[in-house]
Amino acid sequence: MLSVGEFRGEFRRRFSNEPLIIRAPGRVNLIGEHTDYNDGFVMPVAIDFYTWAAIALRHDGTVNIHSQNFDETVSFRLQSAPRPRHHWSDYPIGVIEQLRPANSVRGADILIHGEVPIGAGLSSSAAIEVATGFAVLYANKADVDRTQLALLCQRAENEFVGMRCGIMDQFISCHGKLDRALMLDCRTLAYKLLPLPDDVRLVICNTMVKHQLAGGEYNDRRAASEAGVAILKKRLPRIRALRDVSVNELDRYCSDMPEVVFRRCRHIVTENDRVQCAADALKQDNLAEFGRLMAQSHNSLRDDYEVSCRELDLMVGIADRQPGTYGARMTGGGFGGCTVNLVSLAHVEAFRTKVAHAYEQETGLKPEIYITPACDGVGQVA
Ligand code: GLA
Repeated sequence: MLSVGEFRGEFRRRFSNEPLIIRAPGRVNLIGEHTDYNDGFVMPVAIDFYTWAAIALRHDGTVNIHSQNFDETVSFRLQSAPRPRHHWSDYPIGVIEQLRPANSVRGADILIHGEVPIGAGLSSSAAIEVATGFAVLYANKADVDRTQLALLCQRAENEFVGMRCGIMDQFISCHGKLDRALMLDCRTLAYKLLPLPDDVRLVICNTMVKHQLAGGEYNDRRAASEAGVAILKKRLPRIRALRDVSVNELDRYCSDMPEVVFRRCRHIVTENDRVQCAADALKQDNLAEFGRLMAQSHNSLRDDYEVSCRELDLMVGIADRQPGTYGARMTGGGFGGCTVNLVSLAHVEAFRTKVAHAYEQETGLKPEIYITPACDGVGQVA
């Protein structure tokens, strides 16, 4: 955990100025995977891993960004047009580029410290984007509309970083609430905050297999969903996204599309149903049902969407065998990273020890296991 005093001290030493300090959380998604860019439903939670940004304004048209994690400073002039270069600085620079037209950003010194594990599917990218965006707006005394900030950060990632992500990660980093899961309609951006029962814990198991989402497989999956919509539109002109398609309709037109496109679409259509059922289950305190839906979600991601991997499947299998586990599934974009588990409070310590042991025995990898509360979204730290 970061010491705010030391962080402030480092900023003063480096930039000889007094900073504002902001932190934005990472997230874990309970259910609703790859549905966000299909206008569908998701249910993420903000977690107590943060990206911290200390900021002071400058008035000379220069932006200096120092990353403590990479021990590296990137500087640029606002008159220039910085280009993405597959580097950590693409995320904050992409956000500053998005802010530039509407806000008279005249320069800033920014110090960044990231606690969200990178490449673990816990949205370290969204956390650095949202922390940077909030910091720049806040330091400029501009109003922060959290939904607009989330959209702006998503655009930065789509346009500057080149990863065609949906809105989920940035939205939860902006709108997270203590002890609540957030059920989001990614088409309308309407959301509900759902209380999590007191007697369960969210446990995140990191397989320690790093994923690489920028471009590649993620964008391919997105393209397959779009191909499915284009085919289905010929039969169902009213549809705009897979969100508008039922399982029956998809089955009816199955022979219109390549088998792999059909399976990608089936994951999205069934996953949207599962998120809505999961929200009902949570409202009724029916954790057994919630867990069953998590298991179905994992299987669908593994078999139909094909974004799991051996280590994620293994971690889920081990978790499922432990007493007190309601549900386990991969979380985030996939191809490595973490699983999310809903575990009864009484069993959580035994779960941690046993899962870590069994996973290491099978893979030779030492997993990290985090027990996390649901946290508030981005904000200033006093
Ligand atoms: C990544 C993206 C999100 C979402 C998930 C999969 O985290 O950034 O927008 O698509 O993958 O659910």
